[in-house]
Amino acid sequence: MSTEGRAKGVVGELIARSNRLGSDPRNTNYAGGNASAKGTAADPVTGEDVELLWVKGSGGDLATLTPAGLAALRLDRLRALASVYPGVDREDEMVAAFDYCLHGKEGAAPSIDTAMHGLVGAAHVDHLHPDSGIAIATAVDGEALTKKIFGDTVVWVPWRRPGFQLGLDIAAMKDANPQAIGCILGGHGITAWGDSSAECEGNSLHIIEAAAAYIAGHSRPEPFGPVLDGYAALPDQERRAKAAALAPTLRAIASHDKPMVGHYTDAEAVLDFLAHAEHPRLAKLGTSCPDHFLRTKVKPLVLDLPATASVEDAIARLTELHSAYRAEYQAYYDRNATRDSPAIRGADPLIILVPGVGMFSYGKDKQTARVAGEFYVNAINVMRGAEGLSTYAPIDESEKFRIEYWALEEAKLQRMPKPKPLATRIALVTGAASGIGKAIATRLAAEGACVVVADLDPDKAAAAAAEIGGTDVAVGLAADVTDEAAVRAAVDTTVLTFGGLDLVVNNAGLSLSKPLLETTVADWDLQHNVMAKGSFIVSKAAARVLIEQKLGGDIVYISSKNSIFAGPSNIAYSAAKADQAHQVRLLAAELGEHGVRVNGINPDGVVRGSGIFAGGWGAKRAAVYGVPEEELGAHYAKRTLLKREVLPEHVANAVFALCSADLSHTTGLHIPVDAGVTAAFLR
Ligand SMILES: NC(=O)c1ccc[n+]([C@@H]2O[C@H](COP(=O)([O-])OP(=O)(O)OC[C@H]3O[C@@H](n4cnc5c(N)ncnc54)[C@H](O)[C@@H]3O)[C@@H](O)[C@H]2O)c1
Ligand SMILES: [Zn+2]
Repeated sequence: MSTEGRAKGVVGELIARSNRLGSDPRNTNYAGGNASAKGTAADPVTGEDVELLWVKGSGGDLATLTPAGLAALRLDRLRALASVYPGVDREDEMVAAFDYCLHGKEGAAPSIDTAMHGLVGAAHVDHLHPDSGIAIATAVDGEALTKKIFGDTVVWVPWRRPGFQLGLDIAAMKDANPQAIGCILGGHGITAWGDSSAECEGNSLHIIEAAAAYIAGHSRPEPFGPVLDGYAALPDQERRAKAAALAPTLRAIASHDKPMVGHYTDAEAVLDFLAHAEHPRLAKLGTSCPDHFLRTKVKPLVLDLPATASVEDAIARLTELHSAYRAEYQAYYDRNATRDSPAIRGADPLIILVPGVGMFSYGKDKQTARVAGEFYVNAINVMRGAEGLSTYAPIDESEKFRIEYWALEEAKLQRMPKPKPLATRIALVTGAASGIGKAIATRLAAEGACVVVADLDPDKAAAAAAEIGGTDVAVGLAADVTDEAAVRAAVDTTVLTFGGLDLVVNNAGLSLSKPLLETTVADWDLQHNVMAKGSFIVSKAAARVLIEQKLGGDIVYISSKNSIFAGPSNIAYSAAKADQAHQVRLLAAELGEHGVRVNGINPDGVVRGSGIFAGGWGAKRAAVYGVPEEELGAHYAKRTLLKREVLPEHVANAVFALCSADLSHTTGLHIPVDAGVTAAFLR
């Protein structure tokens, strides 16, 4: 086989192994760990064979790794770095030196763990963060346990912050222990190796499974201590209701320094942890694996009240605990910061634990918040394993600080792309499965918001949400805006799905064009129920959350040109729209003190994509104006000042403008999106 063919084979095996290992959560956390292979490729400069290291690049995830996610480095040059290595105090300088070892510029950026993979003298290396392995790594007698479980086949390497020196340590340990298949990295995870990809994978799995089996066979029955009276999980419905009632306050707590998106879970592992006596002591000790605490902060905020505590008592206590948490975090920063440490990044918790209810985790977007929660579940599993066998002893606070405020970590954060304009904002759009509402939901999501698509039909709502993005971006749900209980449930689902609510669009509507004498009471009621009463119900349910969150917010009404224009044959619809328009002014006046802005949009003649027009209204309007139905859009365009047809996207643009930072000082306003209709000028 040619050198190129062999290189392709090595990369193919590495990707397949990475994907297999990464897709089982028992093996490593999301985006945690890395895998590598060494092999031969042709040097395009000389045509000669050179030895390369292929290793997962910075920020990638093993489960979904592709060849593009690999960094490719010249092995001779990477290993030569050992001779210029200036010592552990200046080990960070070696990261910049990796750039001078790259083989071409196609690959991903090399991660901090590159040294470990290059320096260890084995063709294939895995570094993983399995819960079972970290349990051994964080047990106070981890070294002795490692001997007991593995004899001399797996060796203990004491905690050291990832970097060049840790790579040298592991390489030296392997040279001194030729029988070893891998090591337990104190406080951190495992590294395993092999001569072939299959052998390496087998060794990784052996360490993970043997550690898990040992824990299962030797753990004491109640690793988290005896059951705590009153701390058991609440029954399903009660738990969900309490979670939803607390969510706005919890988001306010997590967002004191900067706004956050949230994730809620009532996973069995979390509820069980909180139901047992040792959880306060263990939670205080914090997480240990660097991957874990970078996302979870050094420790969570834990509500120290039983599950049965009332929502009011819980909120009062959470407020006290928040102040204490912030003071403690500031003290942790002050104790550990040196003159060149980056500035404090905010003192609010990223993980909040509520006994009987579950865990709320926070991040700059839904994915980050969700993964933070996943990592805390990893940490709970680690604590359970370590406490089952021995005593959980995570790395020291000063070491955690050295990672959290590491110059390299700070540089990574600085390199992150600027957040989108609506990042961290959570939107609920009613009637968003079709027409204007769908265009609004799509635009808000494109600008970085998390979006809930609410509409009558659950399948249509879900389909519209799926078109917009995955469940970290948009979810669909059924909510008839005329039904107060359904609207409350939709708001609850919103706060439980994304942590809160910031931006509400009252868009649901329908239209029956009839002159007075043909308009039935039922016609009147239906339109007033959906548009006037429905908007009131939605605004009321949403305002409770907006006020409790203390983050301000936006309510936007999609009213209509017809709210001020006395068009033909339109009594019920236009009156309902006028009602909505006045709600804008009334609520702008009432909610201003909470930083909530309330504005409206007056669209006109949006024919394309509109279910209202397709469902009979179009035909009727066309008849009223005496034009064929398919020319109605063009007819509306002709009678405008700008002679332009109005599309759903134009209305969505106006919603975005109203909610963006540029109109931060505007409330009680209606924006016409009608291409210019003199009769509908506002005055
Ligand atoms: N199309 C226009 O020219 C125009 C002009 C001015 C105002 N508007 C307003 O814009 C909004 C959207 O209209 P569109 O043209 O996109 O119509 P559309 O029919 O395409 O969308 C309206 C959506 O609202 C939903 N809906 C109806 N009743 C509901 C209820 N009780 N609960 C929840 N959802 C409900 C429908 O299922 C539908 O998906 C309406 O309020 C409408 O009055 C439209
Ligand atoms: Zn690691």
